[in-house]
Amino acid sequence: MAPSTSFVFVFVLLALSSVCFSHRPGGGGDGYGYGGYLYPQFYDHSCPMAQDIVKSIVAKAFAKEPRIAASLIRLHFHDCFVKGCDASLLLDSSGKIASEKRSNPNRNSARGFEVIDEIKSALEKECPQTVSCADILAIASRDSTVITGGPSWEVPLGRRDSRGASLSGSNNHIPAPNNTFQTILTRFMRQGLDIVDLVALSGSHTIGNSRCTSFRQRLYNQSGNAEPDPSLDPSYAAELRRRCPRSGGDQNLFFLDFVSPTKFDNYYFKNLLAGKGLLNSDQVLLTKNQQSAELVRTYAENSELFFEQFAKSMVKMGNISPLTGSRGEIRKNCRRVNKN
Ligand SMILES: *[C@@H]1O[C@H](CO)[C@@H](O)[C@H](O)[C@H]1NC(C)=O
Ligand SMILES: *[C@@H]1O[C@H](CO)[C@@H](O)[C@H](O)[C@H]1NC(C)=O
Repeated sequence: MAPSTSFVFVFVLLALSSVCFSHRPGGGGDGYGYGGYLYPQFYDHSCPMAQDIVKSIVAKAFAKEPRIAASLIRLHFHDCFVKGCDASLLLDSSGKIASEKRSNPNRNSARGFEVIDEIKSALEKECPQTVSCADILAIASRDSTVITGGPSWEVPLGRRDSRGASLSGSNNHIPAPNNTFQTILTRFMRQGLDIVDLVALSGSHTIGNSRCTSFRQRLYNQSGNAEPDPSLDPSYAAELRRRCPRSGGDQNLFFLDFVSPTKFDNYYFKNLLAGKGLLNSDQVLLTKNQQSAELVRTYAENSELFFEQFAKSMVKMGNISPLTGSRGEIRKNCRRVNKN
């Protein structure tokens, strides 16, 4: 296909998809929600090596510390849920900017910023002020999924970087591990994501760790009656209590998928069926809603379906409110806005 034909083709496809989604609540105008202008070939001419550079630095970081894969996926998620996928999360505090890194969901837990810095500086050498930090997060998430054994997908590109951050948005819009099922679903729907996306994207907890402080309540006093969460398998709970005491050890780390903690597979869902989901926000997918429970069972039985949906939902999440055209900027350093 000639370049001009493929461009038209992509454009028609995107136009069609925005028609399909146009009934979405909160949708319409301003690119809210579906990234109508993003496409995988965005850097093919301006920075053809971009994706290879991201991939090789992710691979190097992963070789040093496998945990980084989950950390990088989480950065993209925590970025996209606040003002869209615009790298607002990467900004340090300065002047009028109150960094999202200080929010409850991110403080003492968001990590991987140095890897993003390394990618950015390599890209600035190769093609200055061309590849956005927001796109780096999206590509690095895909590469982190692939390197741990998960599905691959083409990442739509062309996001630009914000010139601001939202600490309150970070505190209020990112789902918390102790939120109710309804709150979590509401927070997904606010971004134009649905219950299928919620269950599939939760499946990223097939890798990564969580801190004792994020699930302690389940072990000792789930609903104020001094009893553990009844949906938690008792022997698993006893094991968790050994390194997550009533007080202290807040930062102690636990695998989100204790069976295959560094492999991207569908054991996360199998664990839920056994009452061995680590976080309250994991286990409620099975216990609080029939439709999500059905999806958990489906993905536990069929990892291909999970992989397929995970890829789709990651693209959908990556399309939340991107800055395109002349909005935003291409930061030279992901931690600060450009000086004018
Ligand atoms: C969830 O945890 C946070 C932080 O530990 C706490 O402030 C909040 O009250 C908890 N919310 C619920 C619904 O338990
Ligand atoms: C359990 O939580 C309730 C309500 O938050 C509190 O009143 C009670 O003292 C707690 N019990 C224990 C044993 O920590």
